Amino acid sequence: MKVLSGIQPTGRFHWGNYFGAIRQYIELQGNEQSFYFIADLHALTTIRDAGELRQNIADSALDLLALGLDPEQATLFRQSDVPEVTELTWLLMTITQMHLLEKCHAYKDKKSRGIAADAGLFTYPVLMAADILIYDSDLVPVGQDQVQHIEVTRDLAQRFNSLYGEDCLVLPEKHVLDASAKVPGTDGEKMSKSYGNTIPLFETPKRLKKIINKIKTDSTPVEDPKDPETCAVFTLYKLFASPQQQEELAARYRAGGMGYGEAKNALYEAAMEQFGAAFERRAELESRPDDVEDILQAGARQARQKAQAVVERVRSACGLTARPVMV
Ligand code: ADP
Ligand code: TRP
Repeated sequence: MKVLSGIQPTGRFHWGNYFGAIRQYIELQGNEQSFYFIADLHALTTIRDAGELRQNIADSALDLLALGLDPEQATLFRQSDVPEVTELTWLLMTITQMHLLEKCHAYKDKKSRGIAADAGLFTYPVLMAADILIYDSDLVPVGQDQVQHIEVTRDLAQRFNSLYGEDCLVLPEKHVLDASAKVPGTDGEKMSKSYGNTIPLFETPKRLKKIINKIKTDSTPVEDPKDPETCAVFTLYKLFASPQQQEELAARYRAGGMGYGEAKNALYEAAMEQFGAAFERRAELESRPDDVEDILQAGARQARQKAQAVVERVRSACGLTARPVMV
């Protein structure tokens, strides 16, 4: 199975990113091909500060490696280190019908809010299709919000193949990540950088405690029974705890006499236990930036080799020379 996914370096990763995506990337590593990349070209559609982007890319690589992405089992690289992907984007763009992109949600949302969109945002799904098709990917683990883009990818591959040859591009399957992992943020809504309600993965214990203490709860008095299932603190706790631990805390909610502060404490302890080792690994990796760069470059070399072979196939299929001239 050839697995591929990408994640945008648009800010520090948070619990939603981990439970909704990164954890599954790690579970899927070790496949025949496990390619994961930092989608820096996509991030250019939102980040216009070079220093900020550079920092985010470096942080993303550190976070992913610290969380358990293993360069022996997976290929980690920066999207922009494989420039062939932009070439394939153009080739795909020539067969992309406008209506397909007009219905894509990132563009549609912006337009409906009266904000002018750039061509980069409009054609974002084509770059994503190129990301997937350039590695002959079979399986693309994504969250619910990206499913539409996989469908666009399949449409484009199908249209391309019907024009230029059935075996040219491999149609990917989507692999929708655990929908139950819609992680709530500190306000109880979906955790997202755009809502300012995130719990970052790598916070100092002190800051983490402060953020957890801010999670919105209702005003049920301490002595009254509480419903764990409607409480964001409990929903988050479930992500970390064993079924038995979950049952224990749920029983304490229902029994009354427990304040939300105690539940928050249990959440804090569980998070520290889960991410403590990653925290240390991250600090250690941060002290070896050259090694991290080597990992990214080795990953890019591997990815690029595959990408070049696929682009040659595509260039030939549509009547171009297989390879550009070398200089
Ligand atoms: P954000 O909404 O913070 O900008 P992204 O859109 O960059 O996050 O998401 C990167 C990945 O993390 C995607 O695969 C997305 O589905 C997943 N993800 C983000 N937030 C959550 C969440 N609250 N619950 C589950 N998965 C999430
Ligand atoms: N658009 C994806 C997101 O915002 C990131 C991404 C870019 C991606 N290219 C991809 C994901 C290819 C899967 C496959 O989350």
